[in-house]
Amino acid sequence: MKKKLIAGNWKMNGSLAANASLLEQVLAGLPADPCIVAVCAPAIYVQQVAGLTQGTAIAVGAQDVSAHDAGAYTGEVSASMLRDLGARYAIVGHSERRQYHGETDALVAIKAQKALAAGVTPVVCVGETLAEREAGRTEEVVRRQLAAVIHLNGHCISEIVVAYEPVWAIGTGKTASPEQAQEVHAVLRAQLQSATPQAERIHILYGGSMNAANAAQLLAEKDIDGGLIGGASLKAVDFLAIIAAASAA
Ligand code: PGA
Repeated sequence: MKKKLIAGNWKMNGSLAANASLLEQVLAGLPADPCIVAVCAPAIYVQQVAGLTQGTAIAVGAQDVSAHDAGAYTGEVSASMLRDLGARYAIVGHSERRQYHGETDALVAIKAQKALAAGVTPVVCVGETLAEREAGRTEEVVRRQLAAVIHLNGHCISEIVVAYEPVWAIGTGKTASPEQAQEVHAVLRAQLQSATPQAERIHILYGGSMNAANAAQLLAEKDIDGGLIGGASLKAVDFLAIIAAASAA
């Protein structure tokens, strides 16, 4: 069985001092044979985190990449720049970017393509809003979001990571039940299976208020290969408890 992947999403939090202190605590508490661990830091801190985690079991990721390679795109950061600083992963299509920055399925697919081309593993986020779930549209929405990425990146789709993050569960303290999450993960796995014979090796993460108390149960589900952790990744004790659960799963 493949190792689980636990990725922290620090969002727009941290400082040079706070990052160093958090990483010091997490590194000191890692189990002997940990699951795969990554922390997705604000772009400006990727180099710092890469330096502090060099030679350790923690990989560094970014939270977004530009849809462009280079040029007159003021304020943008390209996938190759992030790779240059040490980023191994990049979240793309997080619901906060879809919601606050108007990112479309087509744009997210291009961002995944740019990450792959730079040798950065895209963590492609999909997930329905509460209104969409209540309207019975969950499957249709996540399939549409993933389809755009598969359409553009079909030839290397086995290189991506998928994160199922129901929007209603992010930062709200409301978690999808293990059964609810597994149901959607199975849909995503089947969709990946029709795109590649290597779908089993793709990590499908759950994200949305995953914490020390609910991680083990979620991670016990067949198609839940890890977690994308927001709030709980900022507290060493909580992040370590999730890593411990994933390492034992
Ligand atoms: P949360 O965030 O764990 O704080 O709910 C998850 C995410 O947005 O990736």
